[in-house]
Amino acid sequence: MSPPVTRRDARAAHLLTAATAPVRHGRARRAEWLGVSFAALAISALAIGGAAAVTAALVAPALAPSRGLAAEAAESAEAETPVPLPQPVEALPAPAIDAAPALVDVCANPAFVAALQAGDDAGAIAAAGGAESFRVAVASGTATCVPLDDPAHVWVVVNKTRPYDPVDYRPSPLAAPAGLRDIAGGDLRADASSSLAEMTAAAAAAGVGEIALDSGFRSYGTQRSTYGKQVSAHGRAAADMVSARPGYSEHQSGLAADVTACSSGCVGLESFAGTPQQAWVADHSWEYGWIVRYVDGKTPVTGYSPEPWHLRYIGRELAAAYHSGGWGSLEEFLGLPAAPDYVD
Ligand code: DAL
Ligand code: ZN
Repeated sequence: MSPPVTRRDARAAHLLTAATAPVRHGRARRAEWLGVSFAALAISALAIGGAAAVTAALVAPALAPSRGLAAEAAESAEAETPVPLPQPVEALPAPAIDAAPALVDVCANPAFVAALQAGDDAGAIAAAGGAESFRVAVASGTATCVPLDDPAHVWVVVNKTRPYDPVDYRPSPLAAPAGLRDIAGGDLRADASSSLAEMTAAAAAAGVGEIALDSGFRSYGTQRSTYGKQVSAHGRAAADMVSARPGYSEHQSGLAADVTACSSGCVGLESFAGTPQQAWVADHSWEYGWIVRYVDGKTPVTGYSPEPWHLRYIGRELAAAYHSGGWGSLEEFLGLPAAPDYVD
């Protein structure tokens, strides 16, 4: 990652460290963050002198859809906090709102919640204050209303510890990207499909050459067959490094695309690395909402060998933040644990 250059960056870097520290239990970490967040919100509310603002700060987490630590912490704070007397504003430290985006409870923001419920991911990210604010809120564990396991959203994280529920989930609508050569089955979710078509057209216009879609959406059944062939050929341990078990593949979301390079014919995926198309994809796919999901050096986090051909659609806003932050895995980007192995 690039070194932090602003107070916001420094705070975000600190938040990420807190969110990914491997030696602390996630639940305890989340409770700790809630405590910090509520204290900061209450202080901010006092600073602007309104009892209504204090109440709003304390009850905000109750807007989260599921009852849990947030609701318990809010109740506890409500029960134990005496009615505050007005304090001189000058006696309080200035609220560091700009420096601490994670302290903004996006789940208490009606515009954010409305966009979330409408399935408007870009609108929710905008309401959160942009992709980096959204990311920091999620990575810190405070954005408890954001479903990272829901494949209907562009931010879904599917990995060896995060299967689909239901396991045979199927996205809709699916569409073949216009103008691409389709090698092994080329549908994608509609938003990813149009974005991939735009990306490959831009690559061709830039003189990079043809990029084809080798494989897009794969159903649970197709993935069972794909994975089974790898196991038969190489054994289970080797298969697990290159192919997801059924119910665990990003391809099942309709948001993953294996791309390859063509001239008259197309190269196999194993020969995509080193082509002009691969270099262009590595540099520019983020501009169209895609990330290279499995990169060199991140196998201990993702659980897979590098796959320079496997692109994952996360939307233009998040992809821009992913690129500018120099991230190498979706897990680290969103503050989730590494997923090197299956649980069973
Ligand atoms: N090759 C990737 C890991 C998949 O099977 O989804
Ligand atoms: Zn793939």
